[in-house]
Amino acid sequence: MRKVFVIFVLGCLFSGCARKTEAEIFVDDLMGRMTLREKLGQMSQFVPQTGVVTGPEGEPVDLDALIKAGEVGSILNVKTPQEIESLQRLAVDSSRLGIPILFGHDVIHGCNVLFPINLASSCSWDMDAIRKSAELAAAEAAAMGIAWTFSPMCDVSADPRWGRVSEGAGEDPYLGAKIAAAMVEGYQGKDLSDSSSILACVKHFAAYGAPEAGRDYNTVDMSERMFRDRYLPPYKAAIEAGAATVMTSFNDFNAIPASANEWLLKKLLKEELGFEGFVVSDYKAVTELIAHGVAADAKEAAFKALRAHLDMEMVTGTYLNHGEDLVSEGLISEASIDEMCRRILLVKYELGLFDDPFRYGGAQRYAMAINSQAAFEHSRKLARESMVLLKNENDVLPLDSGEKIALIGPFASTPRAMIGSWTAFRDYDRTVTIEEGFNARFPSRVSVVQGCDVFTPVDGGISDAVRAARNADVAVLVLGFHGHLSGEAASVTSVELPQCQKDLLAAVKKVGKPVVVLLTTGRPMALESVIDDIDALLLVWHPGTEGGNAVADLVSGDHSPSGHLTMCFPRCDGQIPIRYNHKNTGRPATGIGLKSFDNISKSFQSCYLLTPNSPLYSFGYGLSYTTFEYNNFEMPKALDKD
Ligand code: BGC
Repeated sequence: MRKVFVIFVLGCLFSGCARKTEAEIFVDDLMGRMTLREKLGQMSQFVPQTGVVTGPEGEPVDLDALIKAGEVGSILNVKTPQEIESLQRLAVDSSRLGIPILFGHDVIHGCNVLFPINLASSCSWDMDAIRKSAELAAAEAAAMGIAWTFSPMCDVSADPRWGRVSEGAGEDPYLGAKIAAAMVEGYQGKDLSDSSSILACVKHFAAYGAPEAGRDYNTVDMSERMFRDRYLPPYKAAIEAGAATVMTSFNDFNAIPASANEWLLKKLLKEELGFEGFVVSDYKAVTELIAHGVAADAKEAAFKALRAHLDMEMVTGTYLNHGEDLVSEGLISEASIDEMCRRILLVKYELGLFDDPFRYGGAQRYAMAINSQAAFEHSRKLARESMVLLKNENDVLPLDSGEKIALIGPFASTPRAMIGSWTAFRDYDRTVTIEEGFNARFPSRVSVVQGCDVFTPVDGGISDAVRAARNADVAVLVLGFHGHLSGEAASVTSVELPQCQKDLLAAVKKVGKPVVVLLTTGRPMALESVIDDIDALLLVWHPGTEGGNAVADLVSGDHSPSGHLTMCFPRCDGQIPIRYNHKNTGRPATGIGLKSFDNISKSFQSCYLLTPNSPLYSFGYGLSYTTFEYNNFEMPKALDKD
């Protein structure tokens, strides 16, 4: 194919089309030889029957037949490097034009070695470390044959009921923008054709983090001003950092589903923001236009998505099934199909896939690149930096040397609680639990008791826990949620601790020993009802493969906690959504609405009866093992406008 290209370039130079880039010349030539159906094929992404499951099951497709017909532009969720290699071989050797397939996967917070969930790493406020985690994840993914990750998630959210807050950078658009850009830089590196860099994907465009009532996939209706102020900045920053792809969101945005939304995709993204890469739909989001109520059937869904300039369809194949008819009926112009297909082929060109379709992956490289020492070390460092010390009465932490520890709770020994969601290539054997981390750091000092299950008591659990606490100097409880209780399709109506965990905590507190809680969670939780039972509270999130070691690093005092919250922790469920940068209102609150129902004299302020407006722990909050004193503040004079 390269030979054809060289001849073509020379031809072009002499015929006056020299102003085009090398990539454009190549792609235009290729497209000149493609049928409409092949172009629609490039605009179609499929998932293999045996793939990783990241969405609802769909109609089975004969993937091999489609590949041979040259009708597959991209595949997501392939499980192994060997399968990727053989599917690529099929495309290159058996399809008419041999156009390489682009393989994508959700590499969200690490690939084989997992880093802390994204919300956690945002609490490090460490852009270099976040960039490096993306770079290390890209190196592992690329070695598997994956050339495209569906990350970073740039959805700002102030609603911890929404499970996907775990995948984002919290509630602040500015910080979110910085992190989004750092991640794009980490994944894509300086040169996309470098075989250890992969494509980033800015998702979910747009405003997916503001679903009504915190319910996943739910409707979003907001003013353009609010959108531009609070939600757009991270997407924009990622695009400005050079992200090559963007994914639409499942939600409708001001009454029009994002995947059919011309204003979002064409006007704002491509025209105003000047995005030059390509847009992929979310999983089945094109056929979901039917359930949204804006398309009568699959053909109309394809029409509306194409009309909105959604370049690639994920999973459902309606472009391929109906695109030719839409063109022949004059509903979609071939020129606009060309424009969309061209974007995809240009990105493939930039990746170097036409030079070498196998530049990603390869058995030998895979064996060498995954599970590197550098990745484990970075995972541990970033996990430490991500954890947030929320309470530390009487300096209970760090533990004194020699103290006997009762390690109690449903998450003390489970690797699942360490790694969070989006962990297709996890290796539980390499995941360090808190029990393992403690045993390594505090040998012969730890007794372990489960105490209760996540949502239910276990027989004798509380009495075992109480006994263990009595025989120890300090009780360390690992409470919260499993990793799979956050992430996609994991919205909840309450972010309080489950009752059985509260009961366990209260019983252990009564023993009278200092109580430390290590909170494993993918979302902010409402802790006011239990906070008095806790002497020290360390938010460990889902800290990744090295989680147990990182927790031990902090609890022992080998390192001091340094994380600061990027989402408010509410006092109770009723305060949600809650954010630090709320508007003032015409009646700002100076205190609590009503101190008690015995005294009904209202303040006529914007506040609640009985509950303060403020969160239990605000955005930016986080302690360390030392104290700081600030004094002699000076305010620089306002700059003279002249
Ligand atoms: C999620 C996306 C993800 C895609 C592919 C969808 O369900 O919303 O974030 O990238 O699946 O796995």
